[in-house]
Amino acid sequence: VRDGGGAVRHVDDMTTAPVSIAVLGLGPMGYALARALAQRGHHRVTVWNRTPGKTAGLDGVAVAPDPRAAVAAAPLVIACVSDYAATLGALEAADLAGKVVVQLATGTPGDARAAAAWAAARGADYLDAAILAVPEQIGRPESTILVSGSETAFRAAGAALAELAGTVSYVGPAVGAAAALDFAVLSYLFGGLLGLYHGARICEVEGLRVADYGALLAAAMPALAGMVAHDTDRIQAEHYTAPQSALAICARTGDVLIRHAREVGIDDAVPRYLATEFGRGVAAGFGDESPAAMVKVLRAASSAAARGAAR
Ligand SMILES: NC(=O)c1ccc[n+]([C@@H]2O[C@H](COP(=O)([O-])OP(=O)(O)OC[C@H]3O[C@@H](n4cnc5c(N)ncnc54)[C@H](OP(=O)(O)O)[C@@H]3O)[C@@H](O)[C@H]2O)c1
Repeated sequence: VRDGGGAVRHVDDMTTAPVSIAVLGLGPMGYALARALAQRGHHRVTVWNRTPGKTAGLDGVAVAPDPRAAVAAAPLVIACVSDYAATLGALEAADLAGKVVVQLATGTPGDARAAAAWAAARGADYLDAAILAVPEQIGRPESTILVSGSETAFRAAGAALAELAGTVSYVGPAVGAAAALDFAVLSYLFGGLLGLYHGARICEVEGLRVADYGALLAAAMPALAGMVAHDTDRIQAEHYTAPQSALAICARTGDVLIRHAREVGIDDAVPRYLATEFGRGVAAGFGDESPAAMVKVLRAASSAAARGAAR
């Protein structure tokens, strides 16, 4: 278990590891969480789902008829329904006094802050968490769960969370931090996925195997991770000059991708978006700087939007 500074928090140090856990929500993710906890064997797991009949394959779990009964059965409540409104709606009738609630639905940092205040008003110790994994990765080394909020709740829940993900990262007491980092990661992921799908169309139209393209990308991941670290270090240091590869090259490459799409008759929406965005960087005078200078374009646009909203 890692804390926000990257230091390892040993789960063995967490003296209050609970043995009774309520899992609310048996969608694909909640089911994976409940199964992982149940398979460990040493927890008593009680599950609840709005629609009954979703417990096939969950051996050894108790099934609660409603959220109130599920919460009553355990000191630790892990909620993983579709969103915050559904979570609070499910917990509304439960007695949360003295419970540790870990909220795992995807939402904004504002959602997390509101849910923390809501839980505190009901006497619960609240943790907000975000899962960086798909259900089949739960319990595997490659999965990560980000956690923020009450330190005492983390001490109580950390050991159980560590059974759900290879890395459990406590990113601090500011309860919105896990959701904020989750959104930052999702922003990168979904932008990359759209690029991936355009890349798949390039392969298809050029007679190449899409699976080979995926293998190529997987092999290139260490280099891509290096680029990510390089750009985020530059943004942190506000150092954009003397790049190895200039922003103007990204804009120009976007234009070549558009030309290719038109030559072969595939949709050009993704390269047009890339060329337009990097074009904004060039127009702002950052063509000779690092592509990371795009953050200055986004900051200026945020300021303009804020000025517009204030009028
Ligand atoms: N799947 C992933 O890869 C993934 C990854 C990271 C994070 N997450 C997050 O994990 C959360 C759960 O995701 P999921 O994949 O399990 O699928 P989902 O479709 O987001 O959630 C389905 C679950 O939410 C329940 N639900 C929906 N509305 C409800 C309501 N008003 N009251 C009570 N329960 C309600 C469903 O109950 P019913 O069965 O009764 O419909 C079901 O248990 C989401 O916030 C998602 O963003 C998912």
